[in-house]
This record gives sequence, C-alpha cells and structure tokens, in this order.
Amino acid sequence: MTQIKDSWKAKGYVDEPVPQGVDLKAEIRRMCKEKNAIILAHYYTEGVLQDIADFVGDSLGLAQQAAKTDADIIVMCGVHFMGETNKILCPQKKVLVPDLNATCSLAESCPADKFADFVKAHPGYQVVSYVNTTAAVKALTDVVVTSSNAKKIVETFPKDAKLIFGPDYNLGNYINAQTGRQMLLWNGGCHVHERFSVTKLVELKKEHPGAKVLVHPECRGAVVKLADVVGSTAALLKYAIDSPCNTFLVVTESGILHEMQKHCPDKHFIPVPPDDSTCGCNECNYMRLCTLEKVYNTLRYEWPEIEVPAEVAARAIKPIERMLELSK
Ligand code: 13P
Repeated sequence: MTQIKDSWKAKGYVDEPVPQGVDLKAEIRRMCKEKNAIILAHYYTEGVLQDIADFVGDSLGLAQQAAKTDADIIVMCGVHFMGETNKILCPQKKVLVPDLNATCSLAESCPADKFADFVKAHPGYQVVSYVNTTAAVKALTDVVVTSSNAKKIVETFPKDAKLIFGPDYNLGNYINAQTGRQMLLWNGGCHVHERFSVTKLVELKKEHPGAKVLVHPECRGAVVKLADVVGSTAALLKYAIDSPCNTFLVVTESGILHEMQKHCPDKHFIPVPPDDSTCGCNECNYMRLCTLEKVYNTLRYEWPEIEVPAEVAARAIKPIERMLELSK
C-alpha cells in the first residue's frame, strides 16, 4: 500500500495531481471493480459524482445501502457524518470520504460535550437525534432520525413522552407542529437551509404562479409555510417526478436539481436563492469539496479512511439500528 504522505494527512485529502490524459470516470469504475468498492453519493454532491455513483440517495437511503452492501470498500461522496454512519454500520469495511474537511454545519452546531450537559440537565428525557450529528452525539442518543422518517419515528413514542430533539431546530419545530409534541429543541441549524430568502421565494412565486414549491424541513418556519410539499431530498424528487405540474421552485441545496432534471428532462426546476447573494442558487460548500479527482485519488490510495473509536461506535450503533428497524 502506498504510504500516506504527511502533507496529505495535514490537508485531509490526497493532494496528488491526477495523471494527464486519464479517463477519470473509466478509471474510477475500473478501480471499483478491482477493489470490490462501491460509491455512494448524496443528492447534494456534484452531478458528475451522482452520475458515477452506484447509489444516489438521501441520508436514510445511503445508510440503508451501507447496511446491506457486500463491498469491501465504501466511498462516501458526501460529508463526514455520512462516512461515520457507514463505518458504524460496517466496522469491518474500509469507509473512505474523499475530503475529511467535508464537515456539516448541523453536526458542528452540536458539540458532544455541550449536548451531554443538556441531556444531563433533563433527567427522564429520551433523546431523538437527527442523523446530521457526530458519532459522539449519536452515542448519547436513543433513536436517530432523518428528514424522511422523523415524523414516523417520533410518533412511535407515547404522546406524553419527554423528548429532546437535536440538533436541527427548524426540523424539530416542524415535527412538533406535525405531531402535536413539545419536544425540547437544541438550537442548531444548517447554514444552507437557514439562508433561503422568503422575499425572493415570494417574488419567484409571483413570476411563476403555477409552480409548486418544494421545501426541505431544515428551512425556517416562514419558508416552510410557503411550501406545497415539505420533505427529504428523496421525497421532493419523487414528488417532482409524480406531479403533473411542469414548474417547481426548489428550496433545498441545489445539487438535487441534477437528479430532478435527469428524471424529468421536460420539466422546469428553479433553484431558490439565499438572502445574501446575487448568485441564483444555494450550495453547500462542504458537499462541494468532493470532486471527481479526489474520488480517483481516494480509490487509488484507499485514503482518507473514516475511523470511529470502538467504544463510541458500540453505543452509536444502537440508535442507528433502531432507526433502520423503524424505517422498514
Ligand atoms: P436528507 O438527505 O434526509 O434529505 O437531508 C438532507 C441533509 O441534510 C443532508 O445533509
């Protein structure tokens, strides 16, 4: 095995120029076959990565795929917590995330030590954590949820159960409203979804009166109120495919437009921009750290590899498996 250079370690990704004239996509697929590797990609990654992946999906779909694969190596095109979830589910496999700097603002908004204090301060409460958390936070959790199963899983608890929900405040607020619960909410947020502009969305609705508004539940309540449908990336994609409507205002990270356009080439998808930008769409800078070149180098050098301390993984696996069981 090629030795990992200290400079790569410091950077968190393989900083090796790819050889000139190489067909990266063909080489990536060849290495996948040779090494029995699969590529999983979230809908928020670059379109070129979605096109070469073995599976493209939302957070729940990605965890379900990882749990059932018989590949030896999983390359996770997405962010760090997704790689951690895969590693916890598949401790014997090599889980590679092409750039370890691909963190998640939601996971960052919930440091494990502060969350542990919050949980300790509320004895008798059970903990429901969004999948966008570190392994250390999952280890403090009773059940993990994603945006596609949060309502269903919260409803498995008795109506008067004392629940903490973290870290996404907007999602927790939405689920409280949907289920009539009063879960205690951690005040975290996604830096992409919190920035969508109500003003610009209202303007776009006026410009396209027949358009359906597709909103991810990590958005602020004022944005959710303007939605025709609220759901996970997979749910929004399915709605767009099934809908007889031709125009959609998309209020989630703009990577999803790739798959929407691919499935519905004749429909019109308009990304809703954030408040503070002249740019037409809203991108996650962490998701964009994964590139075709980095996937090539990751497979070539089998690095960077995700590691989760055994005692953290032993606790974090339980709420993840509970989620997978409740999602069947
Ligand atoms: P879903 O994958 O559940 O749609 O959520 C989006 C997200 O927050 C990914 O980080």
